[in-house]
Amino acid sequence: MNQSRPLGLVPAMGWNSWNTFTWDINEQLIRDVADRFVSEGYKDAGYEYVVIDDCWSLKERDPNGNLVADPAKFPSGMKALADYIHSKGLKFGMYSCVGTHTCAGYPGGFEHEFQDAKQLAEWGVDFLKYDYCFKPRHMSGELLYKRMSLALKNCGREILFSACNWGEDQVYSWIRESGAHMYRSTGDIQDSWESIKRLAISQLDKQCYTGAFCHNDMDMLVVGMYGGSNNGFIGSAIGGCTDTQYKTHFSLWSLMGSPLMIGCDIRQANPATKDILLNRDLIAINQDVEGRGAYRIKPEPQWFHTDDVFMLVKVLTDGDLAIGFFNLSDDQREISLQFWDLGLPYASGFSLSLYDCWTHQELGTFRERYSPVVPAHDCLVVRAKLVK
Ligand code: GLA
Repeated sequence: MNQSRPLGLVPAMGWNSWNTFTWDINEQLIRDVADRFVSEGYKDAGYEYVVIDDCWSLKERDPNGNLVADPAKFPSGMKALADYIHSKGLKFGMYSCVGTHTCAGYPGGFEHEFQDAKQLAEWGVDFLKYDYCFKPRHMSGELLYKRMSLALKNCGREILFSACNWGEDQVYSWIRESGAHMYRSTGDIQDSWESIKRLAISQLDKQCYTGAFCHNDMDMLVVGMYGGSNNGFIGSAIGGCTDTQYKTHFSLWSLMGSPLMIGCDIRQANPATKDILLNRDLIAINQDVEGRGAYRIKPEPQWFHTDDVFMLVKVLTDGDLAIGFFNLSDDQREISLQFWDLGLPYASGFSLSLYDCWTHQELGTFRERYSPVVPAHDCLVVRAKLVK
């Protein structure tokens, strides 16, 4: 879908092994995911990167200092896996780390940046997630991301650079200049409503720091996991979320311009999960080519609403507005949007024709205000068109 576009123009879409599988990865799993991307419509919907996270290598480099794929997990090697993924018209992603070791204790990229970039290019890698564990204390993270960015840009292959420093060291203030195409702005997501809510709210006032070629990455999606991680911290000890909560999660990530990296086991995805992940109207908002962040409107009366009830508005390339009415609170709320707050006074003569991006139906034409009632933990996302 995005193949003809310059690298990193719009948020990346794909799948990453970490949330569900952590250390328990192998080449068959990765091939299965690639197969499902094609056979179940994920590729057609725009998902393209199949990414292996941590725990793919041996614990030692070879005598030449090269990283070695664990032959027990990846007996055919990374080049063969890349070839397979490419043969499906998809792209292949891998993982490394700024520090001496990855977060799970495998060799990191420190002082091997140019050598590793060359190796990744030889294998046919298209995407590198670069983590922040075991960073030598005397080195600045900013410098190490600049280093890897330069190495990747000069390795002879187009590789999307996904920085992952968890929002530390005021990353938003320097990451765009480093050359990274996306950057993690938060700590690790967990498969819980509290986590989704916390991450989203933490980025509401950082929307001016996302956009084309360097997207604010709020972490991989937990949609459809239902507590099904092999890692207690991520989900198995937490129990997962409801479909309504996953729908709201996906809406927030879409409107806020986060990359959409699926984290569930798509081989087990039920119809509700697929409806969410394959929602073309939401994906179109996320992938809008101007890549603008969303601004927040606090509903009136402000004294009544807490920070977990808000509207997000994303200005789209064609002049439409994507508007999300989010109720992250535990009670049903009426959320009233005054069109004045969108820059649309009554005297302009314009009304808004609203289309519901979840039911895929027209809601009608409204003048001056629109006040939906939104159940607890739910949201309404509309695409609004100016009409006279
Ligand atoms: C960090 C990252 C996660 C994941 C793990 C792997 O915690 O933030 O997304 O990559 O490391 O060990």
